[in-house]
Amino acid sequence: AVPDERHRPAYHFTPPANWLNDPNGLVYWEGRYHLFYQYNPAGPYHGTIHWGHAVSDDLLYWEDYPVALTPQPGQSDEDGCWSGCFVDDGGVPRVLYTGGSGQDQLPCLATSEDDDLRRWEPDPKNPVITGVPAEADVLSTVDWNAEFRDHCVWREDGSWLQLIGSGIAGIGGAALLFRSDSLREWEYVGPLDIGDWRVTGPVWECPEFVPLGDDYLLHVSDYSTVVYFVGTYDDQQFDSHTHGVLDNGNFYAPQSFTDDDGRRVMFGWLPEDRNRGAQWDAGWSGAMSLPRRIKPGPTAHPIIEPASEVTLLRGRHDGYADIRVTPDGSDYIETSGDTLELQVTIDPCDSHEFGLILRQSPDGSEATQIQYDRLHRTLTVDRSTASLDTRANDSPQSMPVDLTEQGMVELQVFLDRSVIEIFANGTQCLTSRVYPTRDDSVGVDLFADDGHVRASLEIWEMASVWEPNKRTERP
Ligand code: FRU
Repeated sequence: AVPDERHRPAYHFTPPANWLNDPNGLVYWEGRYHLFYQYNPAGPYHGTIHWGHAVSDDLLYWEDYPVALTPQPGQSDEDGCWSGCFVDDGGVPRVLYTGGSGQDQLPCLATSEDDDLRRWEPDPKNPVITGVPAEADVLSTVDWNAEFRDHCVWREDGSWLQLIGSGIAGIGGAALLFRSDSLREWEYVGPLDIGDWRVTGPVWECPEFVPLGDDYLLHVSDYSTVVYFVGTYDDQQFDSHTHGVLDNGNFYAPQSFTDDDGRRVMFGWLPEDRNRGAQWDAGWSGAMSLPRRIKPGPTAHPIIEPASEVTLLRGRHDGYADIRVTPDGSDYIETSGDTLELQVTIDPCDSHEFGLILRQSPDGSEATQIQYDRLHRTLTVDRSTASLDTRANDSPQSMPVDLTEQGMVELQVFLDRSVIEIFANGTQCLTSRVYPTRDDSVGVDLFADDGHVRASLEIWEMASVWEPNKRTERP
């Protein structure tokens, strides 16, 4: 099949072809950024999962490296090398990941001897934990022992500590804490945190636990949403006082790392939001988010913003100041495109429902509306007319957004073909996926359903990070 390139992001990472899900093993190592990711080389579907690998100097332009981890027949990862993290073992680069084998999901260790982390040797001691704690095991169904996977490892008081995602039957998703001296033998400490299954589901995947200023941030993926908790941590006890959602849309299983400046950068998986047939026809599925910086802010909630490098992709710029928008339309915005950064500030004046339109066709048959509802303080991506293709999800996506102190709605929006990443007022994110069918669905506009608003708009055309002929072959 001819790969469908029209929806493939131009400045978000995607593998050369086939399936991508979670980011894994993120690290800044020997002066370069490494992105590993859940990858199925056999096709654009979640099958026998390998670790793909890409390397970058700037978090923007990625060089495809050979597959880093491959399931080994007869070993504890024979059915899949699932998600895991990087471990700096006193200068020796290792990864800890979940080996899938029959009914088991158990942690496996691998080590690299290359400066550029190209080749990885599975550890002879794998799996490094051989059984699931009894309280998690009772989740078992007929054909599966326990949900017990995904790893976050850190050093504390001369020991290794590790979190594994799981669940406790009848109670909820859980992040289970383990301790080790060697990375090869682990003792179970107990749950670091347990959710309520009615709120955050029966299983937590991809737990990550990191410092955030004086506090700590735990985030987990609960099969639909990335939930976070902020709280205090002392003596292996976590007490959360704040919670929230890292992204309200198509964003899942994120992971973060710190670079040499101590900056914490996060990537998440942007799943497709069109059906399997459409993904199969496209030949590729899944993209990485932009690199997002996570940092403590004035409230207990983390600040989430695009990493500053992203501005290096900015090309041609258009600025529109003091645009007046009424139900009859807005002043003319001549900028159009499907790879844009937009910064929009809207003064609601006397309007209650207003917003930004992207990927609009001249005849109006396709358009995606990013609408602010002032009464409910809610931002909604209305995809009801985003695509004429019925294989694309047309359901709306929403998040709560307060007005700024100045009474404005401030949005930073990254449009990259099928990806729309929205950052609102510094703390709220919503990522959406849209698949317009028409080549001329590239219009940008503002709208107000009632009353009028005043807006200013900055738009940059964004560069593509791929040379056209780099996409077809994996080195
Ligand atoms: C999350 C997840 C992880 C697992 C991996 C398998 O998307 O289900 O729990 O390790 O993907 O690909």
